[in-house]
Amino acid sequence: MAATIERTTAPAITPRLTPRRRRGLTAGIFGIGDALPDHVITNHDLEQRLDTSDEWIVRRTGIRERRHLQGDETLSDLASRACLLALDDAGRSGAEVDYVIVSTFTPDRVTPGVAPEVARVIGAERAGAVDLNAACAGFLYGLDHAAALVESGRASVVLVCGAEALSRVTDHEDRSTAVLFGDGAGAAVVAGGELELGVGGFVLGSDGEQADLLYAERDEAVLRMEGAEVYRHAVRRMTAATREALSRAGKTVDDIDLFVAHQANVRIIGTAASELGIPREKVMIHVDRVANTSSASIPLALAQAEREGRLEPGATIAMAAFGAGFVWGAGVITWKERTDVCA
Ligand code: ACO
Repeated sequence: MAATIERTTAPAITPRLTPRRRRGLTAGIFGIGDALPDHVITNHDLEQRLDTSDEWIVRRTGIRERRHLQGDETLSDLASRACLLALDDAGRSGAEVDYVIVSTFTPDRVTPGVAPEVARVIGAERAGAVDLNAACAGFLYGLDHAAALVESGRASVVLVCGAEALSRVTDHEDRSTAVLFGDGAGAAVVAGGELELGVGGFVLGSDGEQADLLYAERDEAVLRMEGAEVYRHAVRRMTAATREALSRAGKTVDDIDLFVAHQANVRIIGTAASELGIPREKVMIHVDRVANTSSASIPLALAQAEREGRLEPGATIAMAAFGAGFVWGAGVITWKERTDVCA
């Protein structure tokens, strides 16, 4: 006689087994959101415990203050807040999200990653959820992945979140790095539409030969870097990748309304912009308020630029990022090209 198996748990949520096929659409950004910890640390606060000065930090980096998570605050909570704001901005609910991509190398735990918790909090019950680590270039890698999912028809709505708690991997006694890093999260809703460019013109790259110039070990989990070398490589790679991304998008430097580079240091951003021939008024600077937040820095800067009235629907944005690996990327996108259509 066959044994009877009693069901003791609630029926599982049915995953989406059949990919939706919506070929022909172009992926674009339809919503943006950001979140920062409340705790602010100014350069003057750092002067109290390190051999440094506000004057040195501002002159060499452009940074004036940064935010750090405190006590039991989690990165997942910060990322979830950014994602909920992005969904609200796009007029979408968590239930409509097919995929959550969180770029981070500073998750709350070794495993699980941040993305599954974000999916739970936002109510994305049937979404795939994955963390991605491409250091400071992670948000651009995530956007490129999201566009591929949407344009291949494997997903309709993808949340891409850059979330980092760099305060967890900072040597707070080392003045050469302690002043540089902050925590934060920014997210974008990527979906398909009949767009001219959307999330187009992406270029990604890596060079594992240079891994020892910027790294954090598993045992001694703090960021170590050869600052001047990183600076030099960052300018060279971001400049070349932006030129190539413009060419792939069929755009020129004159088409750029705003240049949003990874916010590591105003001097790196300024040098890259000037080598590209982008005028100062088209360069977004947000590092002064949040410091280097790695893969969160570009979505944080996009959200801030929109708040400041520097991004209108249809604006052309060139983005570039560079980080540990080395990995880098650049992308040319149109900003919320269609606010009314979100296929
Ligand atoms: N306050 C005061 N003096 C300092 C400080 C500080 N916080 N930090 C370093 N100094 C001193 C150094 O000891 C050195 O002193 P010395 O001349 O007596 O030896 C002097 O300032 C100059 O130091 P440098 O390291 O040569 O300064 P530099 O102008 O290169 O600026 C910086 C350092 C800001 C780190 C720069 O190299 C830089 O921005 N590099 C790139 C960093 C970056 O972009 N990282 C991004 C990737 S991070 C990621 O992926 C998570």
